[in-house]
Amino acid sequence: MCINFKFCVFLFIASAYGQKCSFKRPNGTEVSPDEIKYGIVLDPIQDTASPGLILLTYITTDVSSISTPTTSSNKGRFFMTPSFQNNQFQVVLADIFADYEKYETKDSNSIYVTFNCNGGTTTTLEIILRIIDTNNHDPQFVNAPYSYKVSMPLPKNFPLHVLYGISARDVDLTNNNITFFVNESDINSQGFSASWLATDSVDTKLHRASLITTTAINFKNDFSFKVYARDTGSNPRTVSAPVTIIVDKDNSILRFAKPIYIADYSDLTPEVANGTIFTFQQGDILLSVGADDSVKYYLQEESNEYQENFHLITHSNGSIKLQLINPPSRFFNESFVLLILNATKPGVDDIAVLHISLPGRSTYKNSSISTTESPKIEFSNDDSADSTALIVLGVLLAVITIALIVMIIIYKRRSTPVVTEKVNGIQEKNEDMVEVERNSSNPVSSARRSVAFNDIVQEIKIARL
Ligand SMILES: *[C@@H]1O[C@H](CO)[C@@H](O)[C@H](O)[C@H]1NC(C)=O
Ligand SMILES: *[C@@H]1O[C@H](CO)[C@@H](O)[C@H](O)[C@H]1NC(C)=O
Ligand SMILES: *[C@@H]1O[C@H](CO)[C@@H](O)[C@H](O)[C@H]1NC(C)=O
Ligand SMILES: *[C@@H]1O[C@H](CO)[C@@H](O)[C@H](O)[C@H]1NC(C)=O
Ligand SMILES: *[C@@H]1O[C@H](CO)[C@@H](O)[C@H](O)[C@H]1NC(C)=O
Ligand SMILES: *[C@@H]1O[C@H](CO)[C@@H](O)[C@H](O)[C@H]1NC(C)=O
Ligand SMILES: *[C@@H]1O[C@H](CO)[C@@H](O)[C@H](O)[C@H]1NC(C)=O
Ligand SMILES: *[C@@H]1O[C@H](CO)[C@@H](O)[C@H](O)[C@H]1NC(C)=O
Repeated sequence: MCINFKFCVFLFIASAYGQKCSFKRPNGTEVSPDEIKYGIVLDPIQDTASPGLILLTYITTDVSSISTPTTSSNKGRFFMTPSFQNNQFQVVLADIFADYEKYETKDSNSIYVTFNCNGGTTTTLEIILRIIDTNNHDPQFVNAPYSYKVSMPLPKNFPLHVLYGISARDVDLTNNNITFFVNESDINSQGFSASWLATDSVDTKLHRASLITTTAINFKNDFSFKVYARDTGSNPRTVSAPVTIIVDKDNSILRFAKPIYIADYSDLTPEVANGTIFTFQQGDILLSVGADDSVKYYLQEESNEYQENFHLITHSNGSIKLQLINPPSRFFNESFVLLILNATKPGVDDIAVLHISLPGRSTYKNSSISTTESPKIEFSNDDSADSTALIVLGVLLAVITIALIVMIIIYKRRSTPVVTEKVNGIQEKNEDMVEVERNSSNPVSSARRSVAFNDIVQEIKIARL
């Protein structure tokens, strides 16, 4: 009731000024003041929902326009698109919702829409969308494929991931871990182990993996295997990425395939001897690791008498042949020759022992001791007219001496832990070096061979005395 005109104008303005926006659902029910105050919670949708889905429709009263909306996304992305037209307010799912999990880590997202009401007031609605996670994304390897150029041999527990990180990301909202592994039945990945290492501190969907050797590895050629990542969602998804190990031949150690090569040429006759290319029981003399053009070979004939009579024929693939040139006639009076073959290139070397039995003067060839790893050691007897008893005694003495030496060697091998070569700054104890040899027809344990070699040389030297 107007008492006077001025008061009536005041009342009209006041009521117009205080006019509020109101919203109705399509079924006619009013949106309550509490919902307006605390936010409109939409029906939850799956992360696989299609963009364009209508999330909300309101019929508005006394709304003149809407202002630019804001979003709860910390990157300012709008996964819901509000629109206002002909007193109808609508919210639809935006196109970028398809990538929601790539950008967001929360299972709920809001937009804030401010309505300008006819009376001059404003009303802000928070529209809250809850997202139901499904395991709809594969984990994805980051920076794959992985490739490692390494020197051989690799010691046990060598962490390859330190050289180049392995990681995978799984964007699914509720997948909070990834497991990593290698295929146990793949021959190429034997000797390697992959496992979960850490979650990235910044990007919590990124998980890092470790890739380590579970045994000493000594490969001649490059090879590949796969590392797998599996997410923790329901119906877990598994992906793989290739890992390639490139053998750094330049920096790898040199390694003869065998520490010792034995040949029996006790039937060699002077007529056919010149030009003989020796054949060894252990096969071709071969550098199994590190062979290339830069390798230099030195051949040392132990007695120094026949140094000039041996000629090496080398090949860049590591295969080496030994040829006899113009042997003097006294050569055929020897019962054996012993040669040390040294292969070197900057920083690395390896040696092999070559033992060749010759026609010689030995009466008791068959009394020689022969094992798989040591050469035939023969005893020459200058005075062949000596009594049998003396010979038998001599042989017995020799056998006892050898047995003693062997015992000492065995004792030494058991009691002395041998520290093998330092590769990539990691020193490995001999007992841990369980070597895996591939691409080599006849694997020889590297740790064993370094010990075995010294023993054999010792054995031979003692035997020659
Ligand atoms: C109208 O729709 C809202 C939400 O869709 C629902 O909660 C409400 O029960 C409905 N009211 C009637 C009368 O159907
Ligand atoms: C992920 O799983 C590994 C075992 O596979 C576990 O050690 C680690 O704690 C887990 N990390 C998280 C963040 O759950
Ligand atoms: C694992 O390796 C074996 C042998 O190479 C192969 O048959 C098998 O399919 C591999 N498994 C996977 C999951 O790749
Ligand atoms: C022995 O063989 C080498 C190479 O095969 C040859 O150069 C040399 O003349 C030969 N010596 C004799 C005495 O035949
Ligand atoms: C290396 O090359 C030589 C000469 O071509 C060949 O006779 C030998 O079989 C080769 N050895 C290997 C291991 O490839
Ligand atoms: C080889 O040995 C025999 C018998 O002991 C001897 O007669 C001969 O002179 C020796 N030959 C050489 C070249 O030393
Ligand atoms: C092999 O020869 C190189 C160069 O002459 C030398 O430095 C190295 O000590 C030798 N290796 C052995 C085991 O004799
Ligand atoms: C030595 O052994 C070989 C076979 O290994 C045999 O043919 C030869 O007759 C034996 N020689 C002597 C002297 O016993």
